[in-house]
Amino acid sequence: MLAQSSSYSFIFAALALVAAVLLFTRFASKKTPGSKVETLAPGHHLSLNEFDETKARQIAEKFDLKRLPDNFYKDPFPYYHALRSFSPVHLMPDGSYFLTRYSDIISVYNNARAFSSDKKIEFAPKYGTDSLLFEHHTTSLVFSDPPYHTRVRRLLVGALSPRAIEAMEPGLIKRVDELLDIAEKKRNVDIIEDFASAIPIEIIGNLLDIPHDERGPLRQWSLDILGALEPTLTPQQQQAGEQSVKEFLAYLKDLIRRRREKPGDRDTDMLTRLMLGDPNGEKFTETELMQNCVFLLNAGHETTTNLIGNSLVMLSEWPDQKRLLLDNLDDPNLLKTAVEEFLRYESSNQLGNRRSTQDVTVGGVFMPAGTLITIGMGGANRDPNQFPEPDRLDLQRSTNKHVAFGSGIHQCAGMNLARLEGRIAVQRWLRRFPNYKLTGEPERNRRARFRGFGMVPCNVFGEGKEYVATQKRL
Ligand code: HEM
Repeated sequence: MLAQSSSYSFIFAALALVAAVLLFTRFASKKTPGSKVETLAPGHHLSLNEFDETKARQIAEKFDLKRLPDNFYKDPFPYYHALRSFSPVHLMPDGSYFLTRYSDIISVYNNARAFSSDKKIEFAPKYGTDSLLFEHHTTSLVFSDPPYHTRVRRLLVGALSPRAIEAMEPGLIKRVDELLDIAEKKRNVDIIEDFASAIPIEIIGNLLDIPHDERGPLRQWSLDILGALEPTLTPQQQQAGEQSVKEFLAYLKDLIRRRREKPGDRDTDMLTRLMLGDPNGEKFTETELMQNCVFLLNAGHETTTNLIGNSLVMLSEWPDQKRLLLDNLDDPNLLKTAVEEFLRYESSNQLGNRRSTQDVTVGGVFMPAGTLITIGMGGANRDPNQFPEPDRLDLQRSTNKHVAFGSGIHQCAGMNLARLEGRIAVQRWLRRFPNYKLTGEPERNRRARFRGFGMVPCNVFGEGKEYVATQKRL
């Protein structure tokens, strides 16, 4: 009997040893020069240098934005690292270039004269010049150059002043708390549908003073119109985008008619303000007004939904960072640096474009006038030359000059509003549901340009344990 039990102990000890060796080799095999495995969160995918050198070289050489592999949508960062290491100014089969180095991207952003944002050349064959998508995307300020851009931007930013943003805070808090009350009752929620996407719709709905019972279609319109910006387009995506521009414009036409009959308060209603123009007599034409209102909804919706959804998923993947934030939820500085880090780490807008207006050199590579460039903000924001340990989520990162909002003359006009939405949404969610737990694999939205989730199943009470602070306060 004794002999039998000691042979069992021996077998168990041997099995435990084998398991330990296997675990160790699996972990150690991911350790690559330059990466600090021990600082990664448990269960987190190691992005940096995930491909070995030969593979990374091959990937960089063959990279084509129009033929992306399936796993790119889940985790594009190893691809960006491969490109940055072996082909930072990467020529793609269609003659355009893809940039992933922070310094190259900043140099392009900061030279609006040499790098145009006008997309007529690109969008004419993509949508057809008589399409509504063409008219929309070529009239919105983000895809235009000075002097049109300067005029439209001046009119818009006046309505997004710090005072105007501050005035939105009480309405934002009220809506976030209503959504949390509903989630508390439901217990099992989809973070995107039930929380993240409802917040920017409320904000932009309030901005344009769209009646609550008319906001239903706004989200789908926005998703369809932005979906049509993907590098490759199915006929269904194009059709959905076209239909949504049509419906949105028809809706706005009627809303503007009603607002003319009964103008709102210039200080709080952006639509009235945009309709009246600025005090110097500068005004939008009817088409510019409508197209830029459509653009505002699109610019502020999916991006901010992704910021909120990505943040809550990131926190669940980085438990030490979640705990740090939970322990210091009332620290405004930590909340601020945390939102900047969420924006850097999983930038909601990963790709942008410019076209050279003259012969230029980027990162030592000559490009003739007329060259199309894709700016990889997602890649720049993980550049180790700019961000130490770029694949580590560090909510206290103090120097964080990310390009999630772009840079230069087109830098996001709504960035302070987006930051406010992010801070309030994450803080109030964590305060109410500190133990929230994802109950299934979050579904990616399979977009290369906009990085976010289509669905994130979650139980708001998680394991039902009471949260107890464990770390020292900052
Ligand atoms: C997390 C949320 C957001 C992200 C990541 C984001 C990102 C960006 C980026 C990268 C650009 C520059 C595009 C380029 O240079 O080609 C941009 C432009 C713009 N964004 Fe945002 N955005 C966000 C939220 C918002 C919100 C809430 C609004 C307003 C309601 C807004 C309004 C605009 C406008 C008007 C522009 C055009 C600026 C110009 O061309 O001068 N954005 N955004």
